[in-house]
Amino acid sequence: MDVTTFHLADGTAVPRLGFGTFQLAGDDAYRSTLTALEAGYRHVDTAQGYANEAEVGRAVADSSLDRDEVFVTTKLKPSNAAAGDVRSSTGQSLDALGMDHVDLLLLHWPAEHVAPLGETLEAMTRLREDGLTRQVGVSNFPSQMLTRAYEHAPIVTDQMEHHPFLGVAPVEQVLRGRGGFLTAYSPLARGEVADDPVLTEIAEVHGVTPAQVALRWMLQRPAVVAIPKSGTPERIRSNFDVFSFELTAEQMDRIDALERGHRLIAPEGGPDWD
Ligand SMILES: NC(=O)c1ccc[n+]([C@@H]2O[C@H](COP(=O)([O-])OP(=O)(O)OC[C@H]3O[C@@H](n4cnc5c(N)ncnc54)[C@H](OP(=O)(O)O)[C@@H]3O)[C@@H](O)[C@H]2O)c1
Repeated sequence: MDVTTFHLADGTAVPRLGFGTFQLAGDDAYRSTLTALEAGYRHVDTAQGYANEAEVGRAVADSSLDRDEVFVTTKLKPSNAAAGDVRSSTGQSLDALGMDHVDLLLLHWPAEHVAPLGETLEAMTRLREDGLTRQVGVSNFPSQMLTRAYEHAPIVTDQMEHHPFLGVAPVEQVLRGRGGFLTAYSPLARGEVADDPVLTEIAEVHGVTPAQVALRWMLQRPAVVAIPKSGTPERIRSNFDVFSFELTAEQMDRIDALERGHRLIAPEGGPDWD
């Protein structure tokens, strides 16, 4: 298995360890993204709702990398789900990023209270045809809604909360059946992985941190991409340093067994999770 890259059927290469930027603002967002790119990350996750697209874009531009060496994802705010707003707000995102396209455009949350699902996803697909995004996907879509989304767009991923304490098997199953990948957000359970005794014990065996173990566990499973966030340079670097050790099958099983439906992000009015 390729632990560094997920390959879509059309040949697109998706770096499996990306950098999350939620709650990074202003100069912090710029410096942290630049640190991540210098450390080796080649995939950056932002969103209209994070108000940091300009800083993320500036970090990509100021890095030593060419634009096409970095996989850039942004997400549409649900309030921009009507067809006209999909196009105009994506234009604003690209202006802020200073880019002529993103690699992946996601619908951040289900938004059927704003526009029918088909309207939003078909508008996103037209942006793909026009070259403003290379791929389209969704986020926070439970499996049945994800299945419906495929009626309207060539979805490549569903970005979902996922970490050792929260599985998303039904969504993974739908994605795998379609050649797509799961993007795991909050892969460190917002830092809680650092306090887990099983992850800590396995980490000690390998001389790494529990966060590194949690990320490595994701990379040793098929079709999972993870986007940890940190604003701390040392953690940004160590979270990417997960390619020089390997978990045994027994260690993988022990981490699988930590699943306990521990959901950290469940806003009021959110979808019915499965
Ligand atoms: N689609 C969605 O609805 C959605 C929702 C949430 C998140 N996301 C995306 O997913 C990304 C990651 O999720 P997240 O930010 O919620 O959570 P996360 O990546 O699981 O955890 C981030 C937290 O863990 C801490 N941390 C980082 N590395 C650590 C380490 N090695 N040891 C201990 N603690 C560590 C960070 O602190 P420091 O920063 O202080 O180091 C921060 O408090 C976001 O940034 C965003 O891009 C998407």
